[in-house]
Amino acid sequence: MFGVLKDSDKRFKNLLNGDWVGSESNQFIDIYSPLDQSLLGSVPAMTKNEVDITMATAKRAQKQWKLKTVNERADILYKAADLLLEHIQELAHLMMLEIGKDMKSSRSEVSRTADFIRFTADSGKNVSGESIPGDSFPGFKNNKVSVVKREPLGVVLAISPFNYPVNLAASKIAPALIIGNSVVLKPATQGSLSGLYLARIFQLAGVPLGVLNTVTGKGSEIGDYITTHKDVDFINFTGSTEVGRRISKLTSMVPLLMELGGKDAAIVLEDADLEMTASQIVAGAFSYSGQRCTAVKRIIVMESVADELVQRLEEKIGQLKVGNPLEHESLDVVPLISTKAADFVSELMEDAVEKGAELVTGGHRTGNLIEPTLFDYVTTHMRLAWEEPFGPVVPVIRVKSKEEAIEIANESEYGLQSSVFTQNIEDAFYIADQLEVGTVQVNNKTERGPDHFPFLGVKSSGMGTQGIRYSIESMSRPKATIINLHR
Ligand code: NAP
Ligand code: G3H
Repeated sequence: MFGVLKDSDKRFKNLLNGDWVGSESNQFIDIYSPLDQSLLGSVPAMTKNEVDITMATAKRAQKQWKLKTVNERADILYKAADLLLEHIQELAHLMMLEIGKDMKSSRSEVSRTADFIRFTADSGKNVSGESIPGDSFPGFKNNKVSVVKREPLGVVLAISPFNYPVNLAASKIAPALIIGNSVVLKPATQGSLSGLYLARIFQLAGVPLGVLNTVTGKGSEIGDYITTHKDVDFINFTGSTEVGRRISKLTSMVPLLMELGGKDAAIVLEDADLEMTASQIVAGAFSYSGQRCTAVKRIIVMESVADELVQRLEEKIGQLKVGNPLEHESLDVVPLISTKAADFVSELMEDAVEKGAELVTGGHRTGNLIEPTLFDYVTTHMRLAWEEPFGPVVPVIRVKSKEEAIEIANESEYGLQSSVFTQNIEDAFYIADQLEVGTVQVNNKTERGPDHFPFLGVKSSGMGTQGIRYSIESMSRPKATIINLHR
């Protein structure tokens, strides 16, 4: 069933108008495993001409797709969710090899995605419109009524990041499809094999020809071309702030939904339950080596409880499972996605050491595997206080007051999430109200789910709101038909 994805030389193909097609230029990008550097396959570096054909196909197919009943579209999504679970082992194994996520977490990403797709189908069936009587506005009578329903936008360009190659692709594809859009998926290059596998699942579930298509190629090469393509009606992007900012500068009159970088703070007050707080922070900071936008990326703690918190953090970090997913089923810290990514984390650690931060634990690197690392006495002069490592390194910043904690939290260019740990509900709400972020977690690590909650970043962390119902709304618009009765 999945043999169609590639030829005997492991050259993968793209989904175009219901067929798996090879490269017209014969230009391919090799994909190596971050775990053992083995060659997993190669994907076409698509040409502009191929992109044009793909976009035109998606544009054409959308016109028929939007005419299907929502029940027909939902049935296809239910089938896709079932198929994902049927193939969970194979897909999770591919993800493990391609992005280095341990098998347990890879499987959990696939099953979470199946849940996401089902919930999206249910939510799509519950999208409703409204009718607005004219006479509620001054000067109008009840002979005028606006019937408002939701319309799809057209062709959705879905650009996904490497760290959730299945979930953050499906969380764009499913809401787009249920409301009647067609989709062009551009997966992260490291993650594209998993993305193509996902596209095959949707195809097998019955998505009609041309309604879902894929584009592979390096973002740095074809990114500008696809994001400014005339046939694209909406862009749903998840990735770095740098690329998100570029897309928002280059595009014009195309709505954007962007989930970008973060520097999520865990603020710990004097009265926090330190045992629970330390467990939450360690889980939030280090799972998948901190390669998550929502990872806890700085700890801002009241000086009076800092020593005790740091001691508990150190103990719990010592219990983390570190290694290579090829050898262990379940791990917290795994090799980073690339040498470039690991070098960047090393740079931030060196800067912190040079400027006087105290290394509590970790700090060593073997290849791209970086030990879970905690630095204490990090100051606002250090890069680690502000930059997103996307790796297993967390700074502790000691503060004297709630106001200082809020000030440092808000000084960040990012605004994805923050946590507040306290037993005082008044303090929790006070701080939550002051924080410039999309979401505040009270007594919990920062995290995206459950996936029907709104998920958004402010400032440099994004624009628009994701989350099942919110994504469906983002990818559709009101369409009003006004009935005028002449009586
Ligand atoms: P990235 O380098 O920005 O890549 C994301 C996607 O953009 C990839 O598909 C990439 O393709 C593509 N891309 C690159 N240059 C492009 C361009 N000029 N135009 C259009 N697309 C382009 O990010 P990443 O390394 O995959 O992910 C890590 C970053 O994403 C972190 O900053 C993290 O915080 C953020 N992230 C945020 C969220 C969230 O929900 N807020 C979720 C996950 C990740 P190529 O792979 O071919 O370059
Ligand atoms: O990497 C960004 C994801 O949106 C984070 O999702 O909090 O479920 O790991 P997560």
